[in-house]
Amino acid sequence: MSDLLVAEKVTKKFEGLVAVNEASIKVKENTFTMLIGPNGSGKTTLINCCTGILKPTSGRVMLGDKDITGWKPHQIYDVGFVRSFQIPLPFIGLTVLDNVLGAMRNVGESPFKATKHSSWMDQEEENMERALDILEKVGLEKQWDLPSASLGAAQLKMLEVAKGLSSGAKIIALDEPIGGVDTASAHEILSHVDALKKEEGLTFFVVEHRIDIAAPFADYVYAMDLGNIISEGPPNQVLTDPKVIEVYLGKGVEPC
Ligand SMILES: Nc1ncnc2c1ncn2[C@@H]1O[C@H](COP(=O)(O)OP(=O)(O)OP(=O)(O)O)[C@@H](O)[C@H]1O
Ligand SMILES: [Mg+2]
Repeated sequence: MSDLLVAEKVTKKFEGLVAVNEASIKVKENTFTMLIGPNGSGKTTLINCCTGILKPTSGRVMLGDKDITGWKPHQIYDVGFVRSFQIPLPFIGLTVLDNVLGAMRNVGESPFKATKHSSWMDQEEENMERALDILEKVGLEKQWDLPSASLGAAQLKMLEVAKGLSSGAKIIALDEPIGGVDTASAHEILSHVDALKKEEGLTFFVVEHRIDIAAPFADYVYAMDLGNIISEGPPNQVLTDPKVIEVYLGKGVEPC
């Protein structure tokens, strides 16, 4: 398996605060790679640096053979790397289906091209079929015509994944996909993610606090504390690493 996402010594400083300190990670293609760490350890900031939301202060981010360091989020999205946010951001007034359609490219987006493009309608139909297919893959096929505002927390997370898929993503970064959802729904979300990895060949880079639920799905784990990567390896190895146990116990929680 080749490395799809590589962060090399990425540092992000907010004035005096070093939120991420020379963090290096490799996300191999077609894996579920998990990033764990206590609150404020720099997980979201590292993902933000990899996906263009933030520009690293120093270091390099590679996606395949492309150096994407400092690229804008839409440029990174265009090369197949998408992300969800810790708090889902759907277009709440639109239906579930329209949210997915809205994330797809369509010649109709440009009024100048749309009037000249005879296949615009065909493309709309194709997109519609693909969107319904994607909703089935994430378990939202029955909710396709509901307003996204009516979805529960777990369904909103899956809508984020569906939007990522509809853009033709190769790699999806998920920031706490099971945060705030009940245990049964959390399993359901991760089972869909696992199926997408196995059946569609997708790669997932996942930040998660609920390690006990997420770890069985992970192929590889990185642990962060105070901006540093403190441990990496297969889940069992990282979760039993004394350094990892110590940072969690120091914060009054156990890794699993
Ligand atoms: N835009 C910002 N400006 C200033 N400081 C920030 C900013 N974003 C994050 N920080 C700080 O950087 C550190 C790392 O924050 P980050 O959000 O990356 O942590 P996290 O590991 O994702 O935490 P959580 O598990 O709570 O989501 C924290 O001390 C946070 O307060
Ligand atoms: Mg975070």
